[in-house]
Amino acid sequence: MKRADELRRQLAALNYRYYVLDDPEVPDAEYDRLMQELRALEAKHPEIVTPDSPTQRVSGAAAAQFGAVTHRVPMLSLRNAFSDEEVADFDRRARERLAATAEIDYMAEPKLDGLAVTLAYEHGRLVRAATRGDGATGEDVTANVRTIRSVPLVLQADAPRLFEARGEVFMPLAGFRAMNDAARQRGEKLFVNPRNAAAGALRQVDAQVTAKRPLEVIFYAVGAVEGALLPERQSELLALLRHLGLRTSSEAQRVRGLAGCLEYYRKLAARRAELPYQIDGVVYKIDRRADQEKLGFVSREPRWALAHKFPAQEELTQIQNVEFQVGRTGTLTPVARLTPVFVGGATVSNVTLHNMDEIERNDIRVGDTVVVRRAGDVIPEIVRVVLERRPKKGTHPIELPTHCPVCGSPVVRVAGEAAARCTGGFTCRAQRQEALRHFASRRALDIEGFGDKLIEQLVEQGLVSSPDELYSLTAQSLAGLERMGEKSAANLLAALSKSKATTLPRFLFALGIRDVGEATALALARHFGSLERLMAADAAAIQEVPDVGPVVAASVAMFLASPAHRKVIARLRAHGVHWADIERTAAAAAPLAGMTFVVTGTLASLSREAAQERLRSLGARVSASVSAKTTYLVHGADPGSKLAKATALGVQLLDEAALLELLRSSTRPED
Ligand code: IVH
Repeated sequence: MKRADELRRQLAALNYRYYVLDDPEVPDAEYDRLMQELRALEAKHPEIVTPDSPTQRVSGAAAAQFGAVTHRVPMLSLRNAFSDEEVADFDRRARERLAATAEIDYMAEPKLDGLAVTLAYEHGRLVRAATRGDGATGEDVTANVRTIRSVPLVLQADAPRLFEARGEVFMPLAGFRAMNDAARQRGEKLFVNPRNAAAGALRQVDAQVTAKRPLEVIFYAVGAVEGALLPERQSELLALLRHLGLRTSSEAQRVRGLAGCLEYYRKLAARRAELPYQIDGVVYKIDRRADQEKLGFVSREPRWALAHKFPAQEELTQIQNVEFQVGRTGTLTPVARLTPVFVGGATVSNVTLHNMDEIERNDIRVGDTVVVRRAGDVIPEIVRVVLERRPKKGTHPIELPTHCPVCGSPVVRVAGEAAARCTGGFTCRAQRQEALRHFASRRALDIEGFGDKLIEQLVEQGLVSSPDELYSLTAQSLAGLERMGEKSAANLLAALSKSKATTLPRFLFALGIRDVGEATALALARHFGSLERLMAADAAAIQEVPDVGPVVAASVAMFLASPAHRKVIARLRAHGVHWADIERTAAAAAPLAGMTFVVTGTLASLSREAAQERLRSLGARVSASVSAKTTYLVHGADPGSKLAKATALGVQLLDEAALLELLRSSTRPED
């Protein structure tokens, strides 16, 4: 059978990369699939099974440099299940074989994604640690395992003559990330995943190197035991391991029957991303040892245990094309169009590539086969290119367009910045559209009903090109749009009207100033208290805001200084968009906050503008006309009608000397 031979060759080659070189060529899911295909073929045609088929052994051979250890009790493998039905079959068969009349008790445990090890303790002392190897013979890694902090060198309590503890060595995610960050900084090769990093660490020739790697261990089984009776149940065995000072999983739980297993699976799957280490499924073990013994094994797999795998978080697919999307601030983002692939429980057909630097660093090309990862709710990403699968011909590099794909304006790549930008500004339809989408979004002005589709139409038909124009929409202008009934139009107008009452932080965020997210918008609002004060501030004053650096300060100052933006802001306010000024934070609480000044007449020692500026810098509001809300009227020579009006309204008066005294006493020494 040609296909079976080919699968065996492929699996053998992948196995060598995975187990011997610790450098997997493809994600586990691909390996599993090829293996499944071979198993199915062999099941259908038993005459083609060969003794050297990968289905007939557990896995790989020991690397030469470590001594070989023959396991006194073989280290078993687990049968995999990928669906609830397969778990149901497993449970049904076990009940049949055991002639069980009631539900079976199972111990459910996380399936840790690391390397199986066996640790021999003689009279309580760790004498040998070995990897699983091919299940019968493994490698002696005693020196390396001794360096793992969670491995006790001496057992606690009444240790038997011989106790072989079995478990998984793994690298927690935090340690893995830190290690890769450090490797990246040194320009070294990165580890593909935590399992791989753990394998590399455990097989270091120099145990000193292993000692520096953040390895951990969790135990879940025993091998040979002499001089002690083993408990009756797996649940009690875990308790015994803990009693001896060996770490077990805090997630392990006894469950009842198929329903209990599946419930455990779903609960753990939901929490998968929160765990500090990688797991690739759960393991169900029949709890009673007497039942385990009755069921026995098929080849190297126990009939009393099953690994229920989670959907793969990594899969292979091809890059069909790369397009560039234009964002709100003109940033060009490369988006790879993929051959759709089911990964992490969803179909992924697009994935963003962040920027050109990243593409160039990873040498990603159209036509490449890539590993796509989707873990939990995390945005899918390309992990790496599988260079081994790059066709000799037919791939081509990804090039940054010289002109915006939407508006045709030149694209610039700013030195020192990863992003490439369209220079079209508001003349670019994509930027207009994104700016509007952002303005109306839930965390900005929260204008209900203004989704992507509607905004696209409004921009395309030229009805709206800047946020203020949203408020000029009428029932009539909306009526011309696709699928727009009278009722929907009325709802949209009501939503627009409702959105006019907002808050200063939301408004600042909605403006879509580059680098100003919600947190920065809030900090700006708290520091300045009002839009007027923020608009009067220069970059230096803006930089005083906590957590605002020179780049953000410059971006805010430039945005607010632009006449086009000022016009949009003024029009928004003219349309009735409003908010209450907010209380300024203690640090920013200005001495004249909450007071309104009017300055009139000619001052001798400073210009009227300068006086107004100083008042504003101390937190005062400065107004052009006197009203009942005016706190002080500052009057120089020739005050005119304002003095008369202020006197009539009973507004307090300040002459120049009194003003200077007020300014002096309000200015803190550090100012
Ligand atoms: S029990 C019969 N329990 O999965 C007992 N194995 O696919 C055999 N693994 O070699 C192992 N977590 O490396 C068991 N809670 C767990 C496990 C676990 C991970 C690994 C182990 C084993 C492989 C089998």
